[in-house]
Amino acid sequence: MKHTVANVGHLLKTYDKKINVLNEIDFSVQSGEFVSLVGPSGTGKTTLLRILAGLEHPTSGTVQVAKNTSIVFQDPRLIAAQKIWKNVVLQDDRAKDSRARAIAALSEVGLADKADRWPFSLSGGEAQRVGIARALYRSPDLLLLDEPFSALDAFTRKRIHKLVIDLWLDRRPGVLLVTHDIEEAILLSDRIVVLGGGSIKGDINVEIPRHRDTTSPEFNDLKRRVLEYLAHA
Ligand SMILES: Nc1ncnc2c1ncn2[C@@H]1O[C@H](COP(=O)(O)OP(=O)(O)OP(=O)(O)O)[C@@H](O)[C@H]1O
Ligand SMILES: [Mg+2]
Repeated sequence: MKHTVANVGHLLKTYDKKINVLNEIDFSVQSGEFVSLVGPSGTGKTTLLRILAGLEHPTSGTVQVAKNTSIVFQDPRLIAAQKIWKNVVLQDDRAKDSRARAIAALSEVGLADKADRWPFSLSGGEAQRVGIARALYRSPDLLLLDEPFSALDAFTRKRIHKLVIDLWLDRRPGVLLVTHDIEEAILLSDRIVVLGGGSIKGDINVEIPRHRDTTSPEFNDLKRRVLEYLAHA
């Protein structure tokens, strides 16, 4: 049974009592749904994710999110003085099975052998995968991803796309992915939400069967449609 893992109603966010960064938006994500959020820089995408993650308060409106929510930031934010497995478990390091569970999460992203390494010794793509393992460790019902793939080379990004889709198919959390990459949004999501000027400018269902081919006519038709929405966002 599907249920709502994130819902905002008339969400308003103002900084310095001036500009409405988010202007009374209504938005939700269902369990098992993969939603991408696209829009020009400065339109409030990160602000929306931070509010959903409880890192920021809305100015007004309602916010309901699944209790078990994880966020992956653009940079993996590893703690330099902690080994990789401790970076995965964070404050949970006193639970008796935490190390074993960290290694299980690391093995899902292909890094089980790096559990006892230090963050400085990882490549950028490996560090990003640790960020994803950190989210998986918590088995979230809602996974918030803020441009987590943008710093990766095209080859690594492709591998991580596959990894994220496989994990999503296996565990079926609701996913909200912020991305500037329209092809990535179409490849991965069930729905693409276009944010512009603090409002939702478009909500587009991706009806192309997975696994999607970026060179197919329907892929390119949809890409044109999303770009058209973005041009007016
Ligand atoms: N703490 C803050 N104080 C004041 N203004 C802020 C604060 N955080 C964000 N803003 C402003 O709110 C707006 C939305 O920022 P946000 O980071 O949500 O945009 P974004 O859509 O994620 O952009 P990008 O695509 O560049 O990451 C921007 O104009 C930003 O300057
Ligand atoms: Mg942002």
